[in-house]
Amino acid sequence: MITITTEDSRFMVDLAIEARRRAYAPYSNYAVGAALRTKGGRIFTGVNIENAAYPTTICAERVAMFTAVAQGEKEFEVIAVVTANGGYPCGGCRQVMAEFGLDTVVIIADETGRVIEQTTVNGLLPGAFTPAHLII
Ligand code: THU
Repeated sequence: MITITTEDSRFMVDLAIEARRRAYAPYSNYAVGAALRTKGGRIFTGVNIENAAYPTTICAERVAMFTAVAQGEKEFEVIAVVTANGGYPCGGCRQVMAEFGLDTVVIIADETGRVIEQTTVNGLLPGAFTPAHLII
């Protein structure tokens, strides 16, 4: 089990709050910030990036995870997600999280830094389809 201290949680949420200022969300006006820490302690942030062709929008969590993967990191310890009202990660982002581990801690917080829930990928997506299912 991954243990996240209160200080760690606050640090990750603060990073997500700071990243969120850079969200590009002119259509929904729903800015999202994410901060991801790898098992080795590297940190990657992400913001939602919308597009005039709406479906090409990408969520903050996926930007953080894909940036990490592009830098050679695939083992994630914790991801903090910040929205105005403490909204939860979408289904697509839960699935991408599940690709890289069900035990990753997910912290959901609002823009004031209030933690709405601390859970795991498994908690958000029980029964996830994972890479292990493709080994037959
Ligand atoms: N969004 C995220 O960035 N992460 C989520 O998990 C949920 C939704 C973004 C996508 C879009 O830019 C805006 O929030 C409204 O859906």
